[in-house]
Amino acid sequence: MTALVARSVASRAFVALRALLIVLAVCFLARSVVAAPAPIVLTGADRRPATSLNGDWASIVDPYFSGLFSFHHEEKKNGYFMNYKAKAGDTFPTEYDFSKAPKLKVPGDWNTQRESLMFYEGPIWYEKDFTYQPREHTRVFLHVGAANYHSWFWVNGQKVCEHEGGFTAFNCEVTQAIHSGGNFVVAAVDNTRHEDNVPTLETDWWNYGGLTREVSLIEVPDIFIDQYDLHLSREEEGVIEGWVHVAGGQSDEKADVEIADLHAKTTAQIGADGRAAIHFKVQGLERWTPETPKLYKVAIRAGSDSVDELMGFRTVEAKGTEILLNGKPIFLRGVSVHAEAPYRTGRAYSDKDAETLLGWAKELGCNFVRLAHYPHDETMLRAADRMGLLVWSENPVYWALQFDNPKVLGKAEQQLDEEINTSRNHAAIILWSMANETPNNPVRTQFIETLAKRARGLDPTRLITAALLVRAKGDSKIVDDPLGQALDVIGINEYIGWYEAHPETADTTQWQIDYQKPLIVSEFGAGAKAGLHGGENDRWTEEYQANVFRHQLPMLNKIAQLRGMSPWLLMDFRSPNRPLAGIQDEFNRKGLISDQGKKKAAFYILQKAYKEKTVGKPN
Ligand code: GCU
Repeated sequence: MTALVARSVASRAFVALRALLIVLAVCFLARSVVAAPAPIVLTGADRRPATSLNGDWASIVDPYFSGLFSFHHEEKKNGYFMNYKAKAGDTFPTEYDFSKAPKLKVPGDWNTQRESLMFYEGPIWYEKDFTYQPREHTRVFLHVGAANYHSWFWVNGQKVCEHEGGFTAFNCEVTQAIHSGGNFVVAAVDNTRHEDNVPTLETDWWNYGGLTREVSLIEVPDIFIDQYDLHLSREEEGVIEGWVHVAGGQSDEKADVEIADLHAKTTAQIGADGRAAIHFKVQGLERWTPETPKLYKVAIRAGSDSVDELMGFRTVEAKGTEILLNGKPIFLRGVSVHAEAPYRTGRAYSDKDAETLLGWAKELGCNFVRLAHYPHDETMLRAADRMGLLVWSENPVYWALQFDNPKVLGKAEQQLDEEINTSRNHAAIILWSMANETPNNPVRTQFIETLAKRARGLDPTRLITAALLVRAKGDSKIVDDPLGQALDVIGINEYIGWYEAHPETADTTQWQIDYQKPLIVSEFGAGAKAGLHGGENDRWTEEYQANVFRHQLPMLNKIAQLRGMSPWLLMDFRSPNRPLAGIQDEFNRKGLISDQGKKKAAFYILQKAYKEKTVGKPN
């Protein structure tokens, strides 16, 4: 065996040995990272009786995450999650004490609760004591409406779940960890931005951190209804169909769906997969429309479990360039909305926030809202059902994610699943948006085509869309992004008169739309400081913003496929990209209303067009 061969054998042996050592090290580290069961989705969680954990929680700001990781970055066994109380004679110091720590309110972002936290990005610990009496033959879940961005939860020192994604609800099983009497729950929430997050590093909204939506304990029987889908058939008149999934459901058991107001009830067999297929005819159903947002009490029962839903029934489909609601063409008179709380600012979460924001949209003459750029709270969706506003709901695939990273696709899929499985029974939602303003390249297109296919599989009853960028050629705007092929409805964002050219340029702009599909202009607009006045060509004045709208509406009306619009946007919102002092002051000022509720001149331009139905084909 020549020296050369000997050397290569030795080096290959060395490489193999090194690989083995790395695997062993990872296993050792993995062994030190305590795994916890994945959280579950509970459809209609907000319709279930629950023990609220909202209110004041003790909080510890921990920029180095030393409450979870040791100085060698190994996950600690006795971290802050143990809520340990120092004792005399301890042989080690305890350097945290939740009972002496300042409070943070839940639900709520931490940024607007404490000035020192306005710009804070990092981990913060939360702790809350509570008493509980678990009952026989029940399971208990810690329900979290949302926690931005990466969160870990422990009950009585036992890890119960970990979650990534700041805008979707999840439920952690705590049955084994909870005990009767006094308990404590500890959460670590980290809103640090990472490139492989969804969304990624850059967003034009404030990275509000924390337990931003309600937290509660939900008790269900051992066998319980975890998800269900009920909708009106597009094919058969007066037929409600769908399914009910029962966790732990046996194939000899049944699920019932009853709509007492319609004297309608059906019973279905649960299959081996825990799912019962629902299909029953109802008489005298009043379809949900924006003008008549009729909601029905729907009782869903299986075994000893039941959920009392409140929902409307309507159909939506796309035919050629038309969007048909209940079989009739509709034009979506809309506005885009961020989940920014009116007046107090910060992440919106309450009924009042929803009523105020959607109340303004109704006042504007809207029948549609684009809830941007992430799934909004169930309170917002319930309000849209109640108030009669059609909804575009969006997965936070925003700008330039790592589209070539399979882990990132996994995260986007997980958030999409949570969004659809949580909110699928809202009559108001007609569009699932896969993305916003993503770069036009094949890797991106494939990534989002995968999401679109997944969304269709999860919910074939709604339309799939995305907000695309458009390209310019001379005085033409061209809509030919290949991603459009994967969509039912094309969304486009354009800012003629603000980020490019002048307001009047819209008058001479030609549109080349390479799709015979319904088109929604999901964004257009301009910035204006409420109360700042001047000439119509003076940027940042209300007159300038109004002038942009005056030129936009007739231009858009010339687009044959135009079936809706959601100008950017209803209300000013906090953004880290907007430092212009005296004008923006860290707010994006493209709202038609200021964050303090002051309506700008453009509000009335759009209101007049919507009320007189001079935009789009009248319906
Ligand atoms: C983009 C983007 C929004 C952003 C807006 C703006 O189109 O989708 O998130 O806030 O433009 O620049 O104001």
